[in-house]
Amino acid sequence: MQADFLIDLDHDHPGFKDPEYREQRDSIAEQATKYWNEVNKGNSPDVPVIDYDPIQHGIWKHVCTQIFEKAKYNAVKEVLDGFKQLKFDIDKIPTLLEVNKKLTSKTGVKMVPVAGLIQSRHFFASLAKKEFYSTQYIRHSSCPDFTPEPDICHDLLGHTPLLMDEKIVKASTVMAHAATICPEEDIVQLERIYWFTFEYGLCYEDGKIKTYGAGNLSSYADLTRCVNPDLVEHVDFDIQKIIKTDYNPTIQQPLLFVSKSLSHALDEISSYLEEKYDLKSS
Ligand SMILES: [Fe+2]
Repeated sequence: MQADFLIDLDHDHPGFKDPEYREQRDSIAEQATKYWNEVNKGNSPDVPVIDYDPIQHGIWKHVCTQIFEKAKYNAVKEVLDGFKQLKFDIDKIPTLLEVNKKLTSKTGVKMVPVAGLIQSRHFFASLAKKEFYSTQYIRHSSCPDFTPEPDICHDLLGHTPLLMDEKIVKASTVMAHAATICPEEDIVQLERIYWFTFEYGLCYEDGKIKTYGAGNLSSYADLTRCVNPDLVEHVDFDIQKIIKTDYNPTIQQPLLFVSKSLSHALDEISSYLEEKYDLKSS
């Protein structure tokens, strides 16, 4: 099928010279666009079901096998609980419909398709309604251990276990509400908080440093190195430092923030934003 919706890939993207891969990316984007067109008309369409090939199911299996093994040692308990409850079949990329059955019944969150990159404010506005934008394409088969952008491995293995936890969802939605009302110049600060917590956060658990960040949880290399202070600079969690710390999303992270516990990070995020934007009275 020739899609009407075209996704631009950089020249150095692993799938740039693969016409079949690019055609599928365009088709997935087109299906997401149609989904949102129906939503905007007031309809309730099913989330698109993508036709993955056996090689792509194999990439999912490869990534799941690596991540599940390493997460036992380097991920917080809440993530491991999320994996247990989600019961991902490692032989087959799950549909968002299957994932939503478990996710929505647990915390009310729904994964919704996204056609391409979206602005932060748009992402947060959706999250405030407990709708989490999820990619549906998978990384290119030539490079199963690396993706230059979020893919379905990142969104399902990284984000959904977090979204199965009530207290993580609560802090995420506080941040999302803050992003919908804050001045434009504050958005970058919220992006930094999100980045250094829900994407790459570290915390102590039973005396050991573990991660609860989706970026770390969807890359074997990051999941391995993030807890090692010889490879990554570990800085004590401090919201005031975080909002002033820039990051480069395209590289392995050189510096991460470590909180006393996961609850400590979540409490700090919520109390800082609730006070700054007067959220409790709004
Ligand atoms: Fe992410």
